[in-house]
Amino acid sequence: MPRVRFAEQNVEVEVAVDSSILQAAQRGGAPEGSACGGVCACSTCHVYVEQGAELLSRASEDEEDILDKAFDVKMSSRLGCQAKLERDGLIVVRISKESLDAYYNEHPAEVRK
Ligand code: FES
Repeated sequence: MPRVRFAEQNVEVEVAVDSSILQAAQRGGAPEGSACGGVCACSTCHVYVEQGAELLSRASEDEEDILDKAFDVKMSSRLGCQAKLERDGLIVVRISKESLDAYYNEHPAEVRK
């Protein structure tokens, strides 16, 4: 099964093929924002893929349009709700500050680590 490691949180999750990075975060309890509920309408699930980008689905034009409006975008940027794991292997992800801020705004009872 594909695995997603959230580097800064020291969380690693196994997920089924076709799962998104956001679904992996939710399964593993990693603090990734998801203000629009995963429908490619915000950029609060913005992550940086540090390893294993070739295992992911390609970014659609809609995803690229949303990323154009995100903060601190890099070559490795993806929307976690849109990037799906297409094959077995390990991907390593860093959650953007934008996404961490959104997550903790959405979950005020959780203590930021
Ligand atoms: S959760 Fe809004 S675009 Fe991913």
